[in-house]
Amino acid sequence: MLKLGVIGTGWISKQFVEAIQENGSWELTSVFSRSIEKAEKFGEELGLNIIGYRDLEQFFSSDDFDVVYIASPNSLHFEQSRQAILAGKHVIVEKPACSNPQEMKIIQQLLYKNNNVYYFEAARHFHEPNFLKVKDTVKQMNTIQGATLTYMKYSSKYDDFLAGKEPNVFSLDFSGGALQDLGVYLGYDAVSWFGLPEKVQYVATKLRNGIDGKGLALLSYPGYTVTLNIGKIANSYLKSEVYGLKETIVMDNAADLEEIRLIDGTSEQLLTQKAAANPMAAEVSDFTEILKNPTSLSSKQKMEDWLAVCVQVNHVLYELRVSAEIIFRADEQMREK
Ligand SMILES: NC(=O)c1ccc[n+]([C@@H]2O[C@H](COP(=O)([O-])OP(=O)(O)OC[C@H]3O[C@@H](n4cnc5c(N)ncnc54)[C@H](OP(=O)(O)O)[C@@H]3O)[C@@H](O)[C@H]2O)c1
Repeated sequence: MLKLGVIGTGWISKQFVEAIQENGSWELTSVFSRSIEKAEKFGEELGLNIIGYRDLEQFFSSDDFDVVYIASPNSLHFEQSRQAILAGKHVIVEKPACSNPQEMKIIQQLLYKNNNVYYFEAARHFHEPNFLKVKDTVKQMNTIQGATLTYMKYSSKYDDFLAGKEPNVFSLDFSGGALQDLGVYLGYDAVSWFGLPEKVQYVATKLRNGIDGKGLALLSYPGYTVTLNIGKIANSYLKSEVYGLKETIVMDNAADLEEIRLIDGTSEQLLTQKAAANPMAAEVSDFTEILKNPTSLSSKQKMEDWLAVCVQVNHVLYELRVSAEIIFRADEQMREK
């Protein structure tokens, strides 16, 4: 059995634990929270006997788990991942894994030195069969003439922001904003389907504290552009599209890929496979296969391939953010080092 420790007791941690329970190869043993009561309640609600921690050093020096799932606010991912790697724990860190390329570089250097540790960014849709189907279909297109990808969902936390509060997801201090939170999915789409863009620009709709509530990103590729339409303060019902010559891939949503069609003039083909009920099932299945075979060359190669995409997405998001003059506290902290 793979033994898991979790950081963060929000709904996403619960969904992740439900996915590992369905998978059947895992056991949740430990939970880190700012409050022991919360950690224990998290275990109770899932019907599990866990050990609660509120001291991060003690949590990481525990022998009770081998893999940590990090679902804390974005700005904490880097330091928590750093400590996990140094403690020899495998890391599954929620997206976005790092706030900027400087943090990413330090993680890469640590992984190089601790090459028995696995590190995954939990970019859930990247592991789904429907995502891979779009990737294969794009690869088969003789001509690519661009794409428009949309992921815009009103966040319930925006109600709090409008009421004068500053939830983590709308905070520069916690590396929040639409680009980091939802744009990361579209970043994965663009980098995986089209490669690294030559040039990027982000036109952000900024909120009172300078964070991006929504925005339009333009990614320039040789001969075409990819447009990303991102937002957390409004809802969009637009479909997403990839343009070939006469054929178009049409997706119901560029991050929650449930229905994908290839339309060529008058003919239409449904490409979708039925997605798993738990949207984290596919990534859990991929991580499990690797972590159960940690010494195999193919496991190491897969992690390297995924890490390469993670690093490129981090780079693209950072360049987009810089183009819109959005500066996180995490950027300033790196400059001070
Ligand atoms: N893959 C997906 O589909 C998906 C969906 C949603 C979110 N996410 C990612 O999951 C992560 C967590 O998102 P979230 O919306 O759950 O974030 P959140 O509510 O702001 O924080 C998550 C957890 O971190 C702890 N926390 C909150 N504020 C903190 C602070 N100021 N200092 C230290 N710890 C704090 C809390 O746990 P304790 O109170 O127990 O300490 C909280 O439950 C983010 O990186 C987000 O991008 C992924």
